[in-house]
Amino acid sequence: MRIVLGVSGGIAAYKAVEVCRRLVDSTHHVTPVLTEAALRFVGAATFSALGSEPVPEGLWSGGIPHTRLGQEADLVLVAPATADLLARYAVGIADDLLTATLLATRAPVVVCPAMHTEMWEHPAVAENLATLRRRGVRVVEPASGRLAGGDVGVGRMAEPETIVAVALAACGPQDLRGRHVVVSAGGTREAIDPVRVITNRSSGKQGHALAAAAASRGARVTLVTSSSLPAPAGVETVEVESASDMQAALQAVASDADVVVMAAAVADFRPKVVADHKGHGVPDLELEPTPDILAGLVAHRRPGQVLVGFAAETDDAVGRARRKLEQKGVDLLVVNDVSAPGAGFDHDTNEVTILESGGGATALPLRSKREVADAVLDKVVARLRGSTGDSA
Ligand code: C5P
Repeated sequence: MRIVLGVSGGIAAYKAVEVCRRLVDSTHHVTPVLTEAALRFVGAATFSALGSEPVPEGLWSGGIPHTRLGQEADLVLVAPATADLLARYAVGIADDLLTATLLATRAPVVVCPAMHTEMWEHPAVAENLATLRRRGVRVVEPASGRLAGGDVGVGRMAEPETIVAVALAACGPQDLRGRHVVVSAGGTREAIDPVRVITNRSSGKQGHALAAAAASRGARVTLVTSSSLPAPAGVETVEVESASDMQAALQAVASDADVVVMAAAVADFRPKVVADHKGHGVPDLELEPTPDILAGLVAHRRPGQVLVGFAAETDDAVGRARRKLEQKGVDLLVVNDVSAPGAGFDHDTNEVTILESGGGATALPLRSKREVADAVLDKVVARLRGSTGDSA
């Protein structure tokens, strides 16, 4: 694969050396393109030695047409992407070889922002990133940690290992590019008092795998999760605790979503009254049902939106799930028999049947949760194509 590795001028440029090495080690052809500011942080000689070809000299002196690299690339990866680079890219300025390459390419583009916290939090940067995301650019979010000049905070470029994983995944089928996919994950926790909760055995692994798979296929992904698993790279994550937190978070994003996948194991009931201090002795708990979040989403679905539910069953899984699909009014219902060995809660594998409104049923033998996620998304993509008549 031909990869243009764009490096703009930030202290994280030294970590781009490692990104370059890893990509070349994975047998990709890497052309490093450094901005003038990047050359103040790292020398072209380092990238020329590690890359697959020397660093081109620039728009005017390199002797190559300004569009060639972009046209030939299978992927353009910018690490680090400074606030300045993101701004120039967002408005379409092409005043150096890297920005010209970004405008000339039709390949997937992945940017890895790195900057001081104040700059990262500035609305100008947030708006530029939102613009780029809307156009299908993948963003590897910065982490929190040590920044240039001894500051500490959010804005530190993601680690090379993460960047390489996201970048290579971006080159898979991009059949969800331009789509907004919302995924819920994890078992909700319903407070009894400030210390104790009612919860269930859900780990959140299947939901997180769905979010990661959707992001790899080019979607903008919002993951609403009550799981303590790390957030997948390139995914916007909203952490929640209870069913009502999850409902509020989902309502805020669902109206903009093309797809909502309710993989969360929402607690079915919660204490009617939450004690405001830790009680002593055995409490006399009165329970009430939680809101049915999925029912609310179905009631307010926007035209063409694909809704996916999950069901965990222990007996007559498919029969019960078929009735649930009809009763809930979803497009797809993924059912797992949680009593089967290797399937369901906390395993890395799952064995499911995907039921479709209108009658289809696909049974998938035991496989990784990521593979299950991709199989579910294949069905989602088919539904999106059917509802819009396009071939996105
Ligand atoms: O009825 P059951 O809990 O089996 O339905 C499972 C599906 O409904 C899942 O997709 C789950 O996320 C969703 N659900 C919900 N709100 C609830 C309970 C379940 O959205 N209170």
